[in-house]
Amino acid sequence: MGKPAASRPPATPDAKTAHDLMGVLPMTAEVCDGRLCIGGVDMTDLAREAGTALYVMDEATIRHQLSEFVKWTRYHWKDVDVVYAGKAFLSLDIVRIVEEEDCCLLCASGGELAYAVRAGFPMERVQMHGNNKTPAELAECLDAGIGRVVVDNFEEMERLSALAAERGATQKVLIRVTPGVEADTHDFIMTGAEDSKFGFGLNQGLAMQAVKRAIELPGIDFDGLHMHIGSQIYALHSFAKAIEVMVAFMREIQAETGVAVRMLDVGGGLGVAYGAPDEPSTVKDFGKVVVDGIKEECEKHGLDVPRMAVEPGRSIVANAGVTLYTIGSVKEIPGIRTYVAVDGGMSDNIRTSLYDAHYEALIANKADQPREMVATVAGKHCESGDIVVRDAPLQCPEPGDVLCVCATGGYCQSMASNYNKQVRPGVVFVRDGEWRWAVRRETYEDLLRCDLG
Ligand code: LLP
Repeated sequence: MGKPAASRPPATPDAKTAHDLMGVLPMTAEVCDGRLCIGGVDMTDLAREAGTALYVMDEATIRHQLSEFVKWTRYHWKDVDVVYAGKAFLSLDIVRIVEEEDCCLLCASGGELAYAVRAGFPMERVQMHGNNKTPAELAECLDAGIGRVVVDNFEEMERLSALAAERGATQKVLIRVTPGVEADTHDFIMTGAEDSKFGFGLNQGLAMQAVKRAIELPGIDFDGLHMHIGSQIYALHSFAKAIEVMVAFMREIQAETGVAVRMLDVGGGLGVAYGAPDEPSTVKDFGKVVVDGIKEECEKHGLDVPRMAVEPGRSIVANAGVTLYTIGSVKEIPGIRTYVAVDGGMSDNIRTSLYDAHYEALIANKADQPREMVATVAGKHCESGDIVVRDAPLQCPEPGDVLCVCATGGYCQSMASNYNKQVRPGVVFVRDGEWRWAVRRETYEDLLRCDLG
């Protein structure tokens, strides 16, 4: 989940301006009259008009990323589903964008499915995964008529079969397999023990047992296999290795049961640039390694090439988003560090405290000035661990400045909380010089709505 602080070089003023940070900003980012603009909208004006803290999503970047996945996977094979992982960021607007871009939607809970239903998303393009779907969630999947359920354990498979049979329905399923390859972000490790709460392991024969059960159970149509080896992965050979293992398993299935695997879903995980020097793999290379990899392995084993799926989340939205804050105070502790306090924090971005994630920050109203100092951007919560960016090179900060934290479009809003009864920020989408609320900022009334006391 990003490089741990210990492995990062100590931060120094780097004299970078917004022009040097374009690699982590949305594709429409530019500097106009010295100020940061995204989607043709001035971020400083937006912050003042819409208030802060505020998540800003650039629609053009989201659409571009989705279309890149469609293009570079289908370039190599006609039948590839690009299944956007809604857990990275979900709102009704993005569900509609995903539909328009000819993609599918991955849900991780009944709540995420409710967004797809409310948005009128085509249900046959919805996939549900999760390691402990409740009976209620399984019933919701069947009642909505979703495309595929990724089955994670035996109990769930029996429940799904019974619920489907009750309804006279048949549910397509994928069996989640742990291929024993785990991506260690920049490399891969073989985990012989397959110690994972997700899916069925190969070594102990559990995955084969699961496939056989899925083939025989009523109400269930065994469609294929699913894997997910990790997130924020740079090293594409982790995918290649896992694909080798999965296709070999496909051959075993065919040999033992006579049933052909119709679909292979390789999950998500493509990494993104959080820091200005980061160089993740491109979608184009990902498409080649994954899709050509599956084709080549199938050829090697004499198998028909299955339908394929990829499940990108972070790589669709992370760099499409920024978070805007207003600087409230600048506290210099002589000889130690300078704290820049903002009107948000761990409630809108937990990733710094949870994973020691690192972000680039800049001052939107000083975007073409060099980052001449180093400061730690702190939130407003009652914890010293409430840090948004530790040791951030920054333009000279003053109270009232608009601070922009880059690459926060993924796993920030979706992991936000109401700690300290902080209202969660709204989400604004920008496009062609216009902005609109996609999700409004919460109010104190929202906080109190469920309290019956
Ligand atoms: N498919 C499955 C089955 C997944 O579990 C995930 C993410 C994805 C797809 C999407 O992966 P992506 O392309 O976004 O890497 N909260 C963490 C990330 C957790 C990822 C969980 N699974 C973070 O903030 O970094």
